[in-house]
Amino acid sequence: MASNSGPKADFVVRGRYKLVREIGSGSFGDVYLAIDLTNQEKVAVKLESQNARQPRLVHEKKLYNSLQGGVGIPQIRWYGQETDYNVLVMDLLGPSLEDLFNFCSRRFTMKTVLMLADQMISRIEYVHSQNMIHRDIKPDNFVMGPGQECKELFLIDFGLAKKYRDKKTGQHIPYRYGKSFTGTLTFASISAHLGMEQCRRDDMESLGFVLMYFIRASLPWQELKAATMKQTCEKISEMKMSTSVDVLCDGFPVEFAMYFKHCRRLSFEEAPNYMYLRHLFRLLLRKMNYQHDYAFDWIVLKQKTEQQTASSGGQGHQAQPPKAKSDTTE
Ligand SMILES: Nc1ncnc2c1ncn2[C@@H]1O[C@H](COP(=O)(O)OP(=O)(O)OP(=O)(O)O)[C@@H](O)[C@H]1O
Ligand SMILES: [Mg+2]
Repeated sequence: MASNSGPKADFVVRGRYKLVREIGSGSFGDVYLAIDLTNQEKVAVKLESQNARQPRLVHEKKLYNSLQGGVGIPQIRWYGQETDYNVLVMDLLGPSLEDLFNFCSRRFTMKTVLMLADQMISRIEYVHSQNMIHRDIKPDNFVMGPGQECKELFLIDFGLAKKYRDKKTGQHIPYRYGKSFTGTLTFASISAHLGMEQCRRDDMESLGFVLMYFIRASLPWQELKAATMKQTCEKISEMKMSTSVDVLCDGFPVEFAMYFKHCRRLSFEEAPNYMYLRHLFRLLLRKMNYQHDYAFDWIVLKQKTEQQTASSGGQGHQAQPPKAKSDTTE
């Protein structure tokens, strides 16, 4: 096992799911590749210690349950306890966008970003339609599908997600101020930094930061550090506020600034116009003469590597996506 504090190599959940290796480690749990011993199928197992200071896995499982059946939402196979762990067994998906960004030398082409944006907006729209906000939109929480579904984008990690309106009455949660920070520093919306209750517009603003991160290769506040977490949070917040949308998006098609301007104009309870936002990027894709053919950068790069390996008689070696960092907090 990759993690020293994690479960032993012979850990079998419910006598059925045998852990093989760690595939992801977040701030709240470790995710393992496991084998379902009844049919040899590969699955993903998310573990959380029962001694965790802020247990979230049971909350995450409840939210996943109400999202089941949606496009780009992994299926949950089992939830329960095994020895000292809370365990969530779900479908095994592919690499995260952060992994793939690293694989592509931390540059995505405009075509890849625009194709991704389309699916990302739809995933968030679906979550919002199910009365939930995600509150941790970032590259590590979008993963590509497995095998045949490798063109489909999945949204994962509902540990920080929250109901923002009542299912029956449609009543929106009230506006509140003075909330502790929830999310990931690099991608959090300005309102989240300011301690406002989050709502739909915050997920959309975070997505805007993700898109700019991909096309710019970095965000201006990404490397800011201070002595304490609180000071780092303040520094990043100040820089986000002092960087205008036009400066952030300078040198890139105007559609990106238009995206942010739409999000920033939304009132607390207002629904984003997902269709308008998707159209901005669809039209831009067409204007730039790109085909929406799902030939993402990593697929093209992999094909090139395979061709090179074949022509060099199998001597080449394929790059493996490095592990992603995480700075999630609440
Ligand atoms: N079903 C899955 N299939 C494949 N990989 C997965 C799956 N679920 C999670 N992962 C990988 O594990 C990583 C951590 O998972 P997840 O985001 O659910 O954990 P977390 O502890 O809540 O993380 P965070 O630090 O983002 O809060 C993901 O970024 C992803 O790379
Ligand atoms: Mg995560």
